[in-house]
Amino acid sequence: MSPFYAPRRWVVVVLLAGLLASQVFATSQLSPAAVANTPVTSRCAPHFTLVRDAGPNAVAQSLAPAEEAYISARTATVLPSAWRAYLANVQASSPSELPAYVSSILDGSLKSSSPAVASLPRLGIASSGGGYRAAIFGAGILNAFDGRNASSRGVGTGGLLQASTYHSGLSGGSWLIGSLSQANFPPIQNLVFGPHGGNVEDDGTGGAPPVDPNPPGSGEGGPNNPEPPTPPEPPTPPEPPSPPDPPPDDGGGEGGPNKFFGGWNANFNLFATNNNAALNSLSIGTLLSEISGKSASGFPVTFNDVYSRALSRHFVNGTNGTTVNSFSSNTSTHGAGVRFSDIVTVPTFAKHQQPFPIILGNSISRGQDPNVVYEFTPYETGSYEPTLSAFMPTKFLGSRNSTVCVTNYDQASFVLGTSSDLFSQFNTSLPALFNSTVGPLFAALNQTFPQPLSTVELDAAYYPNPFFGLKNDTFLDSDESFIRMANGGESGEVVPLQPLLVKARGVDVIVAVDASNGNDGFATGSALIAAQNRARLFPSSYSFPPVPSTAETFIAHGLVNRPTFFGCDSAHTINSTTTDTNTPPLIVYIANGGPPPGEPALTNTPNLQLQYQPEQIQGMLNQVFTIATQGIPPSFLSSTNSTKRHNNHPMGDKDPEWAACLACAIVDRARARSGVQRSGVCVGCMERYCWNGSEVGGGSGSGSGSGSGTGVPGSG
Ligand SMILES: *[C@@H]1O[C@H](CO)[C@@H](O)[C@H](O)[C@H]1NC(C)=O
Ligand SMILES: *[C@@H]1O[C@H](CO)[C@@H](O)[C@H](O)[C@H]1NC(C)=O
Ligand SMILES: *[C@@H]1O[C@H](CO)[C@@H](O)[C@H](O)[C@H]1NC(C)=O
Ligand SMILES: *[C@@H]1O[C@H](CO)[C@@H](O)[C@H](O)[C@H]1NC(C)=O
Ligand SMILES: *[C@@H]1O[C@H](CO)[C@@H](O)[C@H](O)[C@H]1NC(C)=O
Ligand SMILES: *[C@@H]1O[C@H](CO)[C@@H](O)[C@H](O)[C@H]1NC(C)=O
Ligand SMILES: *[C@@H]1O[C@H](CO)[C@@H](O)[C@H](O)[C@H]1NC(C)=O
Ligand SMILES: *[C@@H]1O[C@H](CO)[C@@H](O)[C@H](O)[C@H]1NC(C)=O
Ligand SMILES: *[C@@H]1O[C@H](CO)[C@@H](O)[C@H](O)[C@H]1NC(C)=O
Ligand SMILES: *[C@@H]1O[C@H](CO)[C@@H](O)[C@H](O)[C@H]1NC(C)=O
Ligand SMILES: *[C@@H]1O[C@H](CO)[C@@H](O)[C@H](O)[C@H]1NC(C)=O
Ligand SMILES: *[C@@H]1O[C@H](CO)[C@@H](O)[C@H](O)[C@H]1NC(C)=O
Repeated sequence: MSPFYAPRRWVVVVLLAGLLASQVFATSQLSPAAVANTPVTSRCAPHFTLVRDAGPNAVAQSLAPAEEAYISARTATVLPSAWRAYLANVQASSPSELPAYVSSILDGSLKSSSPAVASLPRLGIASSGGGYRAAIFGAGILNAFDGRNASSRGVGTGGLLQASTYHSGLSGGSWLIGSLSQANFPPIQNLVFGPHGGNVEDDGTGGAPPVDPNPPGSGEGGPNNPEPPTPPEPPTPPEPPSPPDPPPDDGGGEGGPNKFFGGWNANFNLFATNNNAALNSLSIGTLLSEISGKSASGFPVTFNDVYSRALSRHFVNGTNGTTVNSFSSNTSTHGAGVRFSDIVTVPTFAKHQQPFPIILGNSISRGQDPNVVYEFTPYETGSYEPTLSAFMPTKFLGSRNSTVCVTNYDQASFVLGTSSDLFSQFNTSLPALFNSTVGPLFAALNQTFPQPLSTVELDAAYYPNPFFGLKNDTFLDSDESFIRMANGGESGEVVPLQPLLVKARGVDVIVAVDASNGNDGFATGSALIAAQNRARLFPSSYSFPPVPSTAETFIAHGLVNRPTFFGCDSAHTINSTTTDTNTPPLIVYIANGGPPPGEPALTNTPNLQLQYQPEQIQGMLNQVFTIATQGIPPSFLSSTNSTKRHNNHPMGDKDPEWAACLACAIVDRARARSGVQRSGVCVGCMERYCWNGSEVGGGSGSGSGSGSGTGVPGSG
């Protein structure tokens, strides 16, 4: 089930070297990284309360006040101009005129009969797990939505990234959204390759929404750099760019706007500098030494801690200037000390210019299923699942009560490591674990760092349990002193939809990006099926649109090879201005299901590929650009031979109306709220892109019956 499984081979190869480095670390000689990675304990402020009860059920659940404030500030000051900029891109690229309701929803001019009815859509983007492949695929989609990329503006998808409200990620997807958020929301090409890499146009707004071509007035909290907009490029496929420069080395170049973040350094193996055993041994020794301060402070350290220190060298500020030698040096902090809660201080976050980031982890307590799906935001960590429905401040992760407050536990790398922890399959009974192929590594860890408990499961991420004693009738970990967490996709829901289903968040439409591994590195829809099943466990909390019940349907009907909309007819309208709270979000599903017609497969790399050269990544990003912008290729259904179809198609192989169709889906819930009927190009779009409810083998959608032309309402 894990999206990122079978680490056996590389763990053995890379980490046996750890044995050589097994040693006792004197706390008096902590390296700067070890110091920066050590939790700090102090008395809590008077009247401090660690745990927030989020409410008994979905209808009554409340968000963190700080999140509420972030979303309303973003909605009021950033999103209006972001949606107008996106609309302008859609209009400029669309061959047919958009229906008036699409434009008036997006430009804010729609006058609703009820002032309480929000007219702007609320968009969430979910980036799946699947290791580096998923991080790169997700980056390719975000790049196609990034209003700072002229090609993306030109094809009419650019600007959606800036207009989104939420962004969730897990595992490989957590690397993408975590690195993006903490690096101050750089353009996507810069995020991946660093400020000096790639053929990058940085307009200097540091991640502000694109300049509104039709500013409504002055100073509406929009971009601080109102240069005239670049005219959109014609909607042609992008030229294959020349490969970017490798990351800068220690001596060269100048610090750009992103001087701390030098890209993902994917040309270095995730774990080690290269395949040189001696260097790897050095670097494992360095990684182990960096968790010694945490251990000395009395916290369990597990394999997740070692792994997180490696991830930090790729996805956390400090990647700038990495070289083979600096990778394992003991003098740099390598991103240690950058905390997930520090995101609140990042300039674009402080100005509400980023989508609100959410990262998922799953508890693996006692191997029981279902385990709790947790979320980490810059403000809070906890779960909205009704079995717990409680949160604590992320910056106080590591704390157990309202008296003794721990800080510095929420290392950004540790949160990303938790979300992508893939070691829990080495379950967990100590004899079996130590008897497995990774036994020697775990023995080294166990010997190097005496654990405070006899039964620490060295494969999990350990969090002191702030929810001890809470909801002992439903909360599995109520009597556990630690919450053990692992990969956010452990439950099979590898696309992190659940936080976006929380009713208090009011998400209308989710772009679900799925690069999980179902079949030879391609997605099969299984993540959506798992998400549907999970949501059904808590019917009073979540509503989910109907999706096919089998991967066979996803594949046979090509739903993974083209964007597919789910839940088109699920808006339960009460009256002309209100939809009922059981209305699920509409899902725009974009899967990594196969290459565009006529192209070789570049995006189904193995989960275990832990090193990528820039040329390979750029090739993948370019192909994902096509996947994100082709819609349903016109030739898609006209022949069984994709190469032939492609070569024979005179118009190229993109739906010229795709950008308009995407806009139709984005506004569709806001449309229903306002009591307007679909019209114009949107009618045909919804017929083409909505799942029609039919299943392979004659069944129909999710046991809910089948509507012709569209999906059918879910049972809520
Ligand atoms: C980032 O890297 C460049 C080039 O290696 C270097 O000049 C600059 O000082 C670095 N910035 C930081 C903060 O290390
Ligand atoms: C990471 O570095 C960027 C500058 O390159 C800075 O704006 C941002 O605040 C830093 N992020 C964190 C979490 O400190
Ligand atoms: C850093 O220190 C650790 C612990 O002393 C050691 O194992 C490791 O080899 C050192 N790394 C380098 C590059 O010297
Ligand atoms: C771990 O192993 C136990 C039996 O030793 C099993 O009951 C449990 O399901 C396993 N947990 C996971 C997460 O695989
Ligand atoms: C609070 O938690 C700390 C450990 O973080 C523990 O030492 C202390 O005894 C606890 N205090 C109370 C009042 O439970
Ligand atoms: C350890 O592995 C050996 C051989 O693989 C097996 O025979 C033995 O039963 C295992 N012991 C435990 C405790 O799992
Ligand atoms: C792990 O270390 C503890 C001492 O800290 C020891 O008692 C235990 O036997 C070790 N476990 C294994 C499997 O080596
Ligand atoms: C749950 O908590 C209640 C109240 O604290 C207590 O009476 C009850 O015994 C607990 N149940 C279990 C199974 O621990
Ligand atoms: C639904 O779509 C599938 C494939 O996309 C097609 O085979 C089937 O005929 C359609 N059914 C209806 C009722 O339109
Ligand atoms: C629509 O329904 C809502 C919720 O039942 C109600 O508050 C509102 O007054 C109704 N509006 C109209 C125009 O009937
Ligand atoms: C825009 O995206 C395309 C497709 O990946 C890429 O080739 C191009 O370099 C990007 N442009 C910028 C400015 O990032
Ligand atoms: C598909 O069509 C192309 C171009 O017409 C041809 O070269 C190729 O052999 C065909 N493939 C199959 C599997 O028929």
